[in-house]
Amino acid sequence: MARATTTFTCSACGAVHTKWSGQCDACGAWNSIIEEGPLSAAAGKQSLGAARGRAITLTDLSTQDPPLPRTASGMAELDRVLGGGLVPASAVLVGGDPGIGKSTLLLQAAAQFANAGLKTFYISGEEAAAQIRMRADRLGLTGAKVQLAAETVLRDILTTLDAERPDLVIVDSIQTMWSDSVESAPGSVSQVRAAAHELTAFAKRRGSAVILVGHVTKDGQIAGPRVVEHMVDTVLYFEGERGHQFRILRAVKNRFGPADEIGVFEMTGAGLAEVSNPSALFLSERGAPAPGSAVFAGIEGTRPVLVEFQALVAPSPHSQPRRSVVGWDSGRLAMILAVLEARCGIPFTGLDVYLNVAGGMKISEPAADLAAAAALLSAREDAALPPECVVFGEISLSGALRPVVQTENRLKEAAKLGFTSAIAPAGGKPGGDGGMAVKPMADLTAFVGEVFGAG
Ligand code: TYD
Ligand code: MG
Repeated sequence: MARATTTFTCSACGAVHTKWSGQCDACGAWNSIIEEGPLSAAAGKQSLGAARGRAITLTDLSTQDPPLPRTASGMAELDRVLGGGLVPASAVLVGGDPGIGKSTLLLQAAAQFANAGLKTFYISGEEAAAQIRMRADRLGLTGAKVQLAAETVLRDILTTLDAERPDLVIVDSIQTMWSDSVESAPGSVSQVRAAAHELTAFAKRRGSAVILVGHVTKDGQIAGPRVVEHMVDTVLYFEGERGHQFRILRAVKNRFGPADEIGVFEMTGAGLAEVSNPSALFLSERGAPAPGSAVFAGIEGTRPVLVEFQALVAPSPHSQPRRSVVGWDSGRLAMILAVLEARCGIPFTGLDVYLNVAGGMKISEPAADLAAAAALLSAREDAALPPECVVFGEISLSGALRPVVQTENRLKEAAKLGFTSAIAPAGGKPGGDGGMAVKPMADLTAFVGEVFGAG
């Protein structure tokens, strides 16, 4: 007789264990394992082969489906990240740190979608309806036809949704929902999983679009369940630094559009404003050319974006010099420093190194290597790079510069913002776009010689 058993699930990585322990042996996290009740009493009672199901329909690969009937919100930055608009019967997860602006973004989006003709429900488990109305007032959205509810009981919510059949449901947040099919507290892994499962099932069943808000823990994981990421069609992260006004909505998974696409917003006193020209905004705080600054011509999704890399290099009072990086990968910084030392003979021993991507932007493109190296060298040599010059290129372990994708787009964007020259890997597409003077470099040593007259 199969017995309904409790399982022990790691809230950091979702690994399932048969017994409790202090450390998860899958991901190494401490105190992350929590006890879960059986998912549902009915599950597992019947073997799948025993009961006869209905026959499934099969089609061939040549069957043409009509294009997805997307609804655009009219917020271009949001629509781009969604892949052109919201798709019916899709489930979207919007994750982000508490206080970053998820509720603000989604209330604005709700109003836009309602204006675009969607029957829109906004269900909050975090705030009272009066609080949401106050925010709507601040955002100037009180006239929008959004239906509000402050509710956490999933069964009641689903009953209402099944009866009302809205086109779009926003659930803020998934961590506050409570499903009575699971015996644990709201916010626990099994509750979040059950709630996300029931809400995505509703989306598929009724053809409604469902947007779930999820709070993210410090280390960038959606609190508790990474499993939600697998259940939904689209995962968006809303990121930014608290102290900065920029917010970036990034698609990390999208079944209905390109991943890696970003939308840029600015948090203002009256809600989130779209930033249609992010390069201009990211470079707006740049002063006169100074040592340690390099402008990187990057590509985010389908769009070129210019950002500034800032470096500071100073003698270290510590036996272990500091390596601090914001907005970029610290492993990549270590690699660049090693290549500079081994291939160009420029050591950073005994020096503290700080590297910062200005504006709270996070860069993960390998093409940023050369911009980081340029900022580091410029700081170390105390020599500013040529003004009006952008830099991009991937650095290999041998010190060679590798060509990167979309050279032309990068140069065009730089020219548009008033830059006149670029330092780029040799072997890329020949440049000269829009009057840009492109200096091709074969390797890092040539770059050091050319720009800093050493090496
Ligand atoms: P919120 O949307 O509540 O964040 P989340 O849902 O991700 O927890 O936004 C919180 C912050 O945004 C709050 O600190 C105040 C700020 N804010 C503005 O600066 N301008 C505005 O118009 C609004 C509504 C909020
Ligand atoms: Mg909120």
